[in-house]
Amino acid sequence: MIDRPAWAEVNLSAVTRNIRSLKSLMPPGSRICAVVKADGYGHGAAAVSRAALAGGAERLAVAFAEEGIELRRQGITAPVLVLGYTGPEGARRAVGWGLDVTVLSEDNARLVSEAATALGGTARVHLKVDTGMSRLGIGPEEAPAAARAIAALPGLELEGVFSHFAASDAADSGFAREQLARYLDVIARIEDSGLRIPLRHMANSGGLLFLPEARLDMARPGISVYGLRASSERDSLSGLEPAMALRARVVQTRTVPAGTTVSYGRTFRAARITRLAVLPLGYADGVFRSLSNRGEVGFPSGRAPIVGRVCMDQCMVDVTDLPEVREGDVGTFFGPGGPAVGEVADRIGTIDYEITCAVNKRVPRVYTEEESRR
Ligand SMILES: Cc1ncc(COP(=O)(O)O)c(C=O)c1O
Repeated sequence: MIDRPAWAEVNLSAVTRNIRSLKSLMPPGSRICAVVKADGYGHGAAAVSRAALAGGAERLAVAFAEEGIELRRQGITAPVLVLGYTGPEGARRAVGWGLDVTVLSEDNARLVSEAATALGGTARVHLKVDTGMSRLGIGPEEAPAAARAIAALPGLELEGVFSHFAASDAADSGFAREQLARYLDVIARIEDSGLRIPLRHMANSGGLLFLPEARLDMARPGISVYGLRASSERDSLSGLEPAMALRARVVQTRTVPAGTTVSYGRTFRAARITRLAVLPLGYADGVFRSLSNRGEVGFPSGRAPIVGRVCMDQCMVDVTDLPEVREGDVGTFFGPGGPAVGEVADRIGTIDYEITCAVNKRVPRVYTEEESRR
């Protein structure tokens, strides 16, 4: 940190406030399950989990058992749902660590049942139904019979049946509505057979924000928890604050003559006498190489363009027009004080999710608790 002044600042108060804001949209008594997979979308899963629980989230979700176990190791006792595939070893570990498990079929549930009975306990499982994402899950036709069979397996409590939207972020909510209708039909057919499903959940951030009927007993927001865009077609940011800023201090400034080329491949040639600032963050840290000659870094006095290719550990910006910028000054690659995450994502043709997930582990996370800037 001292030798390499670069860090990702995570404002945990923003996470807490974002959860409060999302929760205020939910029907009374409904729950929020904050999705903290992929190390909390790069923000740091344990810290974000605590901040989300403080804001009123009742539950957490991760992609696979090891991510949930890490939360348990960090002392987090709230219910954690493993959203992805869990195999035999994962089932033993998930049950042993008190995680709730997504099951995709009766056979898959049997693994969890065996793990639970071997440990002499009960495991909570959620059956995933594929209503149109064509990813994980059982088909709507087979779901009711599977739900009944799973509920009858020893050592299992079928607590939830859930599904996932493919396009809840789209301006046209037609397909999301179709998926919701298929899902509710599955639930009705399960409950017609006398089985009650305590937790019906389907909504990711887009579903929660744009489709009130999808909020049901619980929603599973991820990207909105971090104050980032759930959609590029609709406003998904009102009431939310970005939690992360990627920052580094200028480690060197140099003035070079016109005609000087910068970085690998010499893709930038100075058209004038140019003052360059070197920042110690590169593509191995999460500053995408595709930002070469395209990105900008924010300083208190304005924005400076990234010039030349982004290197593995460093990049250069042109601060000729920002004479106030000195060695030791803080530049912001994204987040408050610099370009928004969404602006960076748009520039390189990706989504907000990828920008924060790409911030490598070698970049220290610095946690703050700041008042709202809104
Ligand atoms: C099953 C499931 N639920 C919820 C989420 C959260 O989605 P989002 O970050 O769009 O809110 C994800 C993330 O991809 C997911 O895979």
